[in-house]
Amino acid sequence: MRRLPLADRSAGLVGSMIDSSTSLLARQTHDIVRFAMGAPSDDLMPVELLDRFAAHAVPGKYSYGASEGEPDLVGEILKLQTEHGYSSGPGRITITTGGMQGLDLAFKLFVDPGDLVVVEGPTYTNGNATALSYGADLLEAPVDGDGLVVEALPELVARAGRPPKAIYTIPNFQNPSGVTLSLARRELLLELAAQWGAVIIDDDPYGLLRFDGSPIPALNELDPGNPLIFSVRTFSKILAPGLRVGWVDADASLQPFLINAKQAMDTCTSVPAQRTVAEFLAGGHLQPHLDRVLGLYRQRKEAMGAALVRHFGDAVRATDPDGGFFLWATFADAAVDTSSLFESALAEGVAYIPGPAFSTNDHFHDALRLCFATSTPGRIDEGVARLKTAVDRIGADR
Ligand SMILES: Cc1ncc(COP(=O)(O)O)c(C=O)c1O
Repeated sequence: MRRLPLADRSAGLVGSMIDSSTSLLARQTHDIVRFAMGAPSDDLMPVELLDRFAAHAVPGKYSYGASEGEPDLVGEILKLQTEHGYSSGPGRITITTGGMQGLDLAFKLFVDPGDLVVVEGPTYTNGNATALSYGADLLEAPVDGDGLVVEALPELVARAGRPPKAIYTIPNFQNPSGVTLSLARRELLLELAAQWGAVIIDDDPYGLLRFDGSPIPALNELDPGNPLIFSVRTFSKILAPGLRVGWVDADASLQPFLINAKQAMDTCTSVPAQRTVAEFLAGGHLQPHLDRVLGLYRQRKEAMGAALVRHFGDAVRATDPDGGFFLWATFADAAVDTSSLFESALAEGVAYIPGPAFSTNDHFHDALRLCFATSTPGRIDEGVARLKTAVDRIGADR
């Protein structure tokens, strides 16, 4: 067969095991408890309200929209930010097609092939995939219970021999670990980024999903107007991921570049989806929706923590997040390989994401990400019990 004339860059496209699990699971015909995708369950999305607003006839709704986004939605986002103690400005907001497009735009604007990019280890698979698609050289930095170990960066960077161009962080209820970056580390991160002239790609889809503890100021609240902070936000986790509506909050000088990039990409984010979100926000529905779901997420997180203790005892150590969707579980027996466990877990009727999917260095073989947001407490217990059966089966075969 003749070889296709693929560009070299196609070899750098690594894809995402997380996203591939959507089609993998869709092909299964048996009952599976779904801990894999990071998405709210249908009953925790405001489906009726979204349907109602989606059905509203609005002139121009099915036409092209402005590349920077629908003015009504931008206005609602500005209001939402003010309610949460942060003042932005219209020139700083660009609507994106989900948070993923915000990440793509960030790496596209700031990263040339071979540039050093600090990433958390573990981190969101698709963030790494996007950085790699622009030829980034990834420097994986450790994460502990207080988020990215920012104090470790100077030595890691010195060893790399050059300053990073960008630092990719998920400060709140990190994907996959569930941990949150402490205030002291946020402050140090701002200092180091200024020293290196590195942009901080602050990816925060889960910040509004805090169900315990007090909020920690966001990076752009700590240093408003700092041009090195590039904030990526999305409605996927607080409303519904299928909408594919997010936004970027970045220095106003970047907006012309963001618009040019979007015009070479998708022209504008879906206008009907933007209008639906704008009407949802304008109607004052977000806070009541969050008030309804947050207690349920807490319940689900607690159910998962309890199920892990019940079924695994000391054999598994898990994080205990104050918000978001994920627990990160590590096996005490380092010989457990969550990648090879996956197939038998799936056969047993439970899906998760294996630890190595969150590293470019093939780390975290003994860990896995569990999403507690999608299942009821009863199903969570059932899923963890199935996981235990799969682990025992693999152990017996070893
Ligand atoms: C940390 C992080 N960033 C970005 C995204 C992508 O969000 P969206 O679905 O809006 O593209 C996700 C979704 O899982 C995420 O967890």
